[in-house]
Amino acid sequence: MPLVTMRQVLEEAAKGGYGVGAFNVNNMEQVQAIMAAAEELDAPVILQVSRGALKYADVIYLRKVIEAATERHPDVRAVVHLDHGNSPETCEMAMDLGFTSVMMDGSLHPDGKTIADYAYNVEVTAKVVEMAHARGVTVEGELGALGGIEDGHGAGIDAEDDKYLTEPGQAVDFVRQTGIDCLAVAIGTSHGAYKTLRYDKAGNALPPRLALDRIEQITANLAAAGYKAFPLVMHGSSSVPQDIIAEVNKYGGKLKNAMGVPMEDIQFGIQRGVRKINVDTDGRLVMTAAIRRVLWEHPELFDPRDYLKEARSALKKLIAEKMRDFGQAGHGHDYEPIGLDGMRMQYAREAAAR
Ligand code: G3H
Ligand code: 13P
Ligand code: ZN
Repeated sequence: MPLVTMRQVLEEAAKGGYGVGAFNVNNMEQVQAIMAAAEELDAPVILQVSRGALKYADVIYLRKVIEAATERHPDVRAVVHLDHGNSPETCEMAMDLGFTSVMMDGSLHPDGKTIADYAYNVEVTAKVVEMAHARGVTVEGELGALGGIEDGHGAGIDAEDDKYLTEPGQAVDFVRQTGIDCLAVAIGTSHGAYKTLRYDKAGNALPPRLALDRIEQITANLAAAGYKAFPLVMHGSSSVPQDIIAEVNKYGGKLKNAMGVPMEDIQFGIQRGVRKINVDTDGRLVMTAAIRRVLWEHPELFDPRDYLKEARSALKKLIAEKMRDFGQAGHGHDYEPIGLDGMRMQYAREAAAR
């Protein structure tokens, strides 16, 4: 099965009024779990690969594992996306590997930490769009800066500081000047398990304060400028389930008081134009909880298959729940995939019409 493009998947999601999870993958078990959930639920899916993942698994291994997944699940409509590309060169490398979508994160400089200015962001993003559209590849850009720094994809700012949030007035200019297909917005989310600065009197973590109203404003501004139903992307969308944190700690973990983005907030965003929802941390947490539980309960075990298969099935269950909650379940075969060649021709037609 050829991979599908993110542009088509998100456009269809906009028509259907649902969101599509973009799940990070680093190894075979994660790819298997996500593809199995997508097949079972007949859901389109986005597998996303960070630079860290490419380094960990090795570019060739990861490409081959994804290739194997598409052969094993020929009916699943899957996008393979580069998460937080840090330069046009990295994006080009992903395109050469056959990815059908790339993110050029020009909100930061190539170090993945230093906040870049608007002119830089426009310049590098537009450059990637030119290269990508000539191949039919989708491009995600980012405006504003995400909090968090642990993973090298955040500016280390307080995500609740309004100064770094996406400026709704700037979104139209950014989309127009760059030609991107979807826009990652900074609305107070951040990567990782520790997303909140708010605690109740008893010291329990409260959900992070999000500027959800900006989603509506950005969508409205774009629609008014002719970009109807323009797909928005929500990074840092893990919910950091409390029962999973408790499970990790019950079996010897030492995670701090943490809280993520409640599903109601994500669904609020989906109703107002969020189409791609990035989730990595929750997957990490459920796998860790499963592995800790197996090894804690059966200290005599030493075959990696014993704990990896538990981790894989815990991840599959989590992904399936999210696919239902985001609304993508049941939409795997609503449309005929266009593929990279078809999309390349579509971009050429659109350019000629401008
Ligand atoms: O955007 C961040 C993702 O969680 C990827 O993280 O760079 O540690 O693979 P990573
Ligand atoms: P989480 O850390 O909330 O899972 O976010 C992942 C992400 O945004 C990847 O780009
Ligand atoms: Zn991200």
